Amino acid sequence: MSKQILILAGDGIGPEIVKVAETVLAQVNQKFDLGLTWQHGLLGGAAIDAHGSPYPEVTSQQAQAADAILLGAVGGPKWDTIERSIRPERGLLKIRSELNLFANLRPAILYPQLADASSLKPEVVSGLDILIVRELTGGIYFGQPRGIRELENGEKQGYNTDVYAESEIKRIAKVAFEMAQLRGGKVCSVDKANVLEVTELWKQTVTQVQKDNYPEINLSHMYVDNAAMQLVRAPKQFDVIVTGNLFGDILSDEAAMLTGSIGMLPSASLDEQGKGMYEPCHGSAPDIAGQDVANPLATILSVAMMLRYTFREEAAAVAIEQAVGNVLDQGLRTADIMSEGMTKVGTRAMGQAVVNAL
Ligand code: IPM
Ligand code: MG
Repeated sequence: MSKQILILAGDGIGPEIVKVAETVLAQVNQKFDLGLTWQHGLLGGAAIDAHGSPYPEVTSQQAQAADAILLGAVGGPKWDTIERSIRPERGLLKIRSELNLFANLRPAILYPQLADASSLKPEVVSGLDILIVRELTGGIYFGQPRGIRELENGEKQGYNTDVYAESEIKRIAKVAFEMAQLRGGKVCSVDKANVLEVTELWKQTVTQVQKDNYPEINLSHMYVDNAAMQLVRAPKQFDVIVTGNLFGDILSDEAAMLTGSIGMLPSASLDEQGKGMYEPCHGSAPDIAGQDVANPLATILSVAMMLRYTFREEAAAVAIEQAVGNVLDQGLRTADIMSEGMTKVGTRAMGQAVVNAL
């Protein structure tokens, strides 16, 4: 098997967190003799500056040739005013869609050491371990028609289309059920079937897949407004949550915050063969870019997910996760997870501590 990784640092804090994650990757590659190799490419604003496109042809070719991709984050105020169709975020959507990375896994796990960093009471979040399975290549993010048009009376109107075909719902439901088999055996499908037809079909289809193929899985359904509430009221009731692109975007930020900081949350976006792109759930945080204060742990934990899901190197993945636990035990904290009595460190020092722990 070839073991080629493409690293796309992106914009904002992307380059600094990815650089640190790369040192962790190098360490684990050597220690476990993984035989991984990697090269770098451009995505987002960095690619716009160099090639005039957020996902240029050269990046597309690199991405297709790679077995896995490690991404930092894209976007920033510098590119917020350019033509919408070539903004950095469109590059991210295009790479997800071109590579068919439809299954987005966003685990929200509370490290016991960070129970105090959460804005919720420790007893509400301690031991939290949720997996959000977000559909990533369909729904309102990609539905046509879309745009901003002018009405006859001269007023502008913005519009988007939320669409899901049965086949798209079936394949993401399957991923959720299979993930649940490896975990607590519970799936909650989140929809807005009381209002939106597209999610009415979602609910019916998920129900059918469970009935036909996963009778042992405990499936429940929840409207998205209630799910948003339940996530802060009693988050531990959830095991796997499966939902569409937009609801998944929103609920995964909310779930991230339960764990203390979105700076702790990794993600995997997989195709049907297990090829994947791995990225932190947080954005490019332009306000703190270049200051060595960003939390690199979500990116480092994304490397662990890459080893687990694409390269099937469970021992190496666990070693990274344990090293992260170890630096938290040492009391090291970046600003976003800082609490009283702990030692505040920067991006690079945090990365170095993880490498040392490995
Ligand atoms: C995410 C991000 C992206 C999304 C943005 C940057 C396009 O918020 O990965 O959650 O909305 O999918
Ligand atoms: Mg998001």
